[in-house]
Formats: sequence, C-alpha cells, structure tokens
Amino acid sequence: MLRCPLQLVRLRLPVRQLSDLTTKFTGLGSFSNLNYDQLQSSLRTDSSQCEQFWKLIGEQQLNWMQPFHTVSDCDLKSAKIAWYLGGKLNASANCIDRHLATRADQTALIWEQDEPGNQVYITYKQLHAEVCRIASLLLQSGLQAGDTAVLYMPTGPPVVYCMLACARIGVAHSVVFAGFSAEALAARIQDVGAKVVITTDQAIRGGKTVELKRTVDAAVKSCPMVERVFVSTRTGASVPMGSIDVPLEKNAAACSADCAAEPMDSEQPLFVLYTSGSTGKPKGLVHSTAGYLVYTSLTHQHVFDYRPGQDIFGCVADVGWITGHSYVVYGPLANGGTTLLFESTPAYPDVGRYWETAERLGLTHIYLSPTSLRMLLRYSTDFVTKYDLSRLRVLGCVGEPLNHEAWEWYHRWVGGGHRDIADTWWQTETGGVCIAPRPSAEGAPILPAMPMRPFYGLEPVLMDPATGAEVTESPAEGHLCMRRPWPGMARSIWGDHKRFAETYYSQFPGLYFTGDGASRDAQGFLHITGRVDDVINVTGHRLGTAEIEDALDSHPAVSETAVIGYPHKLKGEAVYAFVILKDGVSIDRLGDLRRELKRRVRDRIAAYAVPEKLLFTDGLPKTRSGKIMRRILKRIAAEDYDSIGDISTLADPSVVEALKQHHDLYQ
Ligand code: WT7
Repeated sequence: MLRCPLQLVRLRLPVRQLSDLTTKFTGLGSFSNLNYDQLQSSLRTDSSQCEQFWKLIGEQQLNWMQPFHTVSDCDLKSAKIAWYLGGKLNASANCIDRHLATRADQTALIWEQDEPGNQVYITYKQLHAEVCRIASLLLQSGLQAGDTAVLYMPTGPPVVYCMLACARIGVAHSVVFAGFSAEALAARIQDVGAKVVITTDQAIRGGKTVELKRTVDAAVKSCPMVERVFVSTRTGASVPMGSIDVPLEKNAAACSADCAAEPMDSEQPLFVLYTSGSTGKPKGLVHSTAGYLVYTSLTHQHVFDYRPGQDIFGCVADVGWITGHSYVVYGPLANGGTTLLFESTPAYPDVGRYWETAERLGLTHIYLSPTSLRMLLRYSTDFVTKYDLSRLRVLGCVGEPLNHEAWEWYHRWVGGGHRDIADTWWQTETGGVCIAPRPSAEGAPILPAMPMRPFYGLEPVLMDPATGAEVTESPAEGHLCMRRPWPGMARSIWGDHKRFAETYYSQFPGLYFTGDGASRDAQGFLHITGRVDDVINVTGHRLGTAEIEDALDSHPAVSETAVIGYPHKLKGEAVYAFVILKDGVSIDRLGDLRRELKRRVRDRIAAYAVPEKLLFTDGLPKTRSGKIMRRILKRIAAEDYDSIGDISTLADPSVVEALKQHHDLYQ
C-alpha cells in the first residue's frame, strides 16, 4: 500500500526561510539568540559554559525516563568518556513513541526500492507496531538487556525495525555491511559475541541479487555462540533453513505490537560498529545511548537545517555504515523526521537515479559521497537537468575530501548555483558530524572543497607530528585532533579499552587523535588532507593495510606483502599490493596467482578491498632494522618519483629502481 501522509502536512505548513534554525537557538537560557560565532566563542572561553550548553541541549533533545544528575565525566588523558550520568532513557522510545502524539500518521520511512517507482511509505504508527513486534520476538527468543545481536541486512525497513527493536530491549546491535564476506562476518559475530544474527534471504541492488542468508550460513559454522538466526524476506527466494533459522516476519506477526521500552542507563551501549584501523583486526567501536542520540539529533537539525514535518531527508548511504546509523536512522527519527531508505545505486537504471528519485519523492535534502559525484560528473548533465530539483535545499557530502571539480559540479548542476553544500567531516568514532560549513551565521560564506567550521562546542587543533606540539598559527597544516570531548564520541572498542586508549588518546595526550591530516587557512577554516596512518579510504570506506596484507599473506605461495593506497580518479584511493612470492614458485603461475590473491581478499574481507593493482616483486624498500618504508611505495605507486627523497638509509637501495621499472612496465 502506498501512502504519503506527509504530503498533507507539508501543504499546511508555511515555508520558513533558511537560517532561523541554523543560526540561533531558542529557549536555551543564556544561549538563546546567539549566532554561531557568538556561541562558539562563549563555549570556547569557558568550560563551565560548555557544560551548561550540553546540559540544556541534553534536556531539550531527548525524553528522559529519569533525569541525569551529571552532564559529563570525561578525562581524555585516560580515555574516560561519560555523559548524562544518572539519566535513564530508551533510544527506541525517543525515535518513535514520543512522536506518536503529534506524528502518528506522518511518514517516518520512505523505502526507495531498487526498481524505481516502487517506494513504500511507513508512518510512525506503523514503525511503532513493527518495532514492538520484533522486540517481543527477540525477548521471546531469550535475548535480554546487555546481549548483542548482529544484523546482516540490506538497507530497507526491516533493518531499521531490528535496530530499534534491539534498542527497545537494551540489546546492542552490530550491523555488518551486507557486502562483507562470510569470513569478515564471522570475525565480527565472534568478536561481539552475538547470540542472535538477523539477516535477509537475498538483497537486491542495481538489478542484481546478493545471497545474504547463504553467506550467514557459511559464517555461523564457525560461530558456536549463535543460538538463533532470524531471516527476513526480501525476494522470497527459497533459501536453506536449518534448525536454528526462524523466518522473521511470519513469527513477528504473531507477537504483540505492544512492547515496553526498557529504561536504559545513558551510557548503555546502543550499538557496536566495526571499522578498519591501521593495525590488527577491525575495531568494534562502541556508541552510547544518550550522548550519541543527543549529538546525532542536534547535528542533523543544525548542520543540515532540517525541519521535521516539512522536510524529507535523503541520505543515500547504506545502513551498514556509520552514516546510515546516524543520518538515515537515529538522527532523523529522533527529530521526528522523514527519512529515505535507498536500496539502489547511483547508476541504476541509469546515472540520473539520484535526481529522478529526488524529484519523484520531493527530497529536500540529499546526502551522498564524493565517489558517486566523481562518477556522475563524467556523464551528460542532461541526467540532472531533466529533473525538477526545486525542492532540494541542502546538498550534503561525506566520506572523503570533496575535490573542487566535484564540488563545482554538485553546486552548479544539482544546486542550481545557489544551494548550500554541506561538506561534512566526521568518522565512525565521532558519532556525528564534527566539521561542516553550517551552522554558521546567516550569509556566512561556504567555500568550495573544505568542511570549514567546527560544530558547536568542538575545538579542533592541529598538532605537529614531529614535535608533538600544537600548531597555533594560521595558515598551517598538522595532524587533526580534538581538544574538547562531545557527547557523540565513541566510548570504547568492544572488549579492548586498552586498544581504544592507545589508538586515539596516546599519540597526543589529552587530545582525541583523528588519524587525519588537515590544513587551516588564514581565516581559520579547515580543509582535510586525508589519512596520516595506514588506513586507505576506498570510495569513502575504510580499509586497514594490515587487514589486506593478512589476507594476501595467508596464501601458501606468498612470502611477504606490502599494501598501500594510491590516488584514484574515481575511488579517491585504490589499493596497491606489492607481493613477494616464495622461492620456487613458477613464473607460469603468475596469472593464476593474481586471480587467486584477489579472490582471497574478496573472500576474507569484501569486494571493495580487492587490490586494483598487484605487483609481484623480488624486494621491498626496508630500513636496516627491517621496517617497510611505505612512504616510498606510495611515491612509486603515485609515480611521484621526484619526491622519493633519500634512500641511502635503506638496507638495499637498488630495490627502489627495480620497483620503479616494474611499476612502469605494469602501466
Ligand atoms: C574517514 C572516516 C563519517 C562517515 C563516512 C566515513 C574521511 C570523512 C570527510 C570529508 C575529507 C573525510 C576521513 C575520516 N572523511 N569525511 N568531508 N572530507 N575526508 O566514515 O569510515 O569512519 O571514515 O573518512 O579520512 O577519517 P569512516
């Protein structure tokens, strides 16, 4: 059944001019009526002001079952982060129940299915019933507060129901992007200790079906802790059902549509989301209930100038990434908004898909990745201009640096030359947007290709990696850190707080280290230059070089590998693997080996991790103590030979010349 109750609401409400939301708070004590610059300077000069600000915001943004008594208890030196202590609340109630009095018939979710023209509208009332039924089913299956569940599902209503059902009963969910392989899925299930996995028979994306249930079957073979696998129906294809498998919708339909939202502590983990680091296995970042919801709802409102009841927020990210968690699900729903669940790709059935969808659904916001823009701008602008995009008001972007060409194209062709471009910088670890052009005072400029301004209460600092000291002058460049804690930041790495402290809080004591480099211009505006650690950002998704090396090293013919990222026109960065084979491997096998090694990365991690380039070599540039000089490999991959620099400290400098020649041959 297709319905769009929002249409009715929309007609009755006057269209407000941009800026009254972005620049001023109302009803916020002494902070009322301050503009961005005034508020920032008052927060920066005085930490008690900051405390007061987050107190009022915490009270205003959420419904509390029990009020908090302490705003924050943070000490970044020891990686201790806690907000809104003493408070009790439920995230699902904040995203659904509290809106029922005024928004029961408003559309909460619009599911844009893979085939265009098949949108499905779900109201807050329906969302409530679906979430309650699934929460009741999860309770019946023995799950209880404090447990974890892994969700391996495509973007669509069921995954949102399941996330909120978990939140309703105090179960931390861990959504695993449905493009990850069985091995990667198994590693996450084991690490998070999930008793329950929820999946879908098959996904459909870009006209292709993806076997999700079969992948789960392969994964759970090595996960003895899994007691139950719920299977949601998307295609209805017949998939093997074993003794622990239970059809989701059929069983939920028999459960009560009334399930109490459990009061949870503010710091109760809401979810765990895995992301790649520079070393070791992926890290399960833990996000809290209260601080995360306060921060995602506030940033959703102010960075994007979002107005519930009028606006349709079109974040096209997959729910399996943090962008999906914060700006498809939690931010928009906590704000009583209408949010898009985009199942397809930017190029299906053609490269006009985003704009066709925007016109048909009347999107007021679109939030996408630089990679997709770089792909789309290669095609005729007719794919954009043939659609009426007059409802679009804010154009967002996240994931990688948004280069000038893509910024200009987005601004001119999609934005008609006058809409706000929100280049937002943030990370899985930060919970929500930290640097973005808005909120800022009315008329304040938005400059191309930089996220510019810190969000309220945040204090970015640039650090000199050589001296460990803060770089105070402008313009300048340095490693990007954050001085003040904020409610949305990650609390820990699941099961490994020591690693959390070491990764983020040891490099520059007292500061959160982002892993990114940044520059600050003369006016103080920030531009992100990219990762400064061994993390590769492929199409806006993070990969650790160590993860890929591990996968390649596991092949019996491989002796040693070094993986780096290199600039790629479309993907931002792509993976380059240098591989040393074991003695005695026949040269005739190189073609097969190349295929086998790529396959191995796909099987162990995911398709997007597969090296674009794979070079067999006899040696790698190493220091005398045996450390691989990745800096040199990066220069070779980028063909930036002039800046390779001094190689006399290498154990065998001749390796560099050999690599250059091989690389050239390879082109
Ligand atoms: C890394 C975080 C947060 C959602 C998407 C990715 C890069 C992100 C920008 C931007 C330049 C950006 C950074 C960051 N990044 N946004 N606007 N400009 N770089 O989340 O997978 O945790 O990756 O993405 O390098 O560290 P993630």
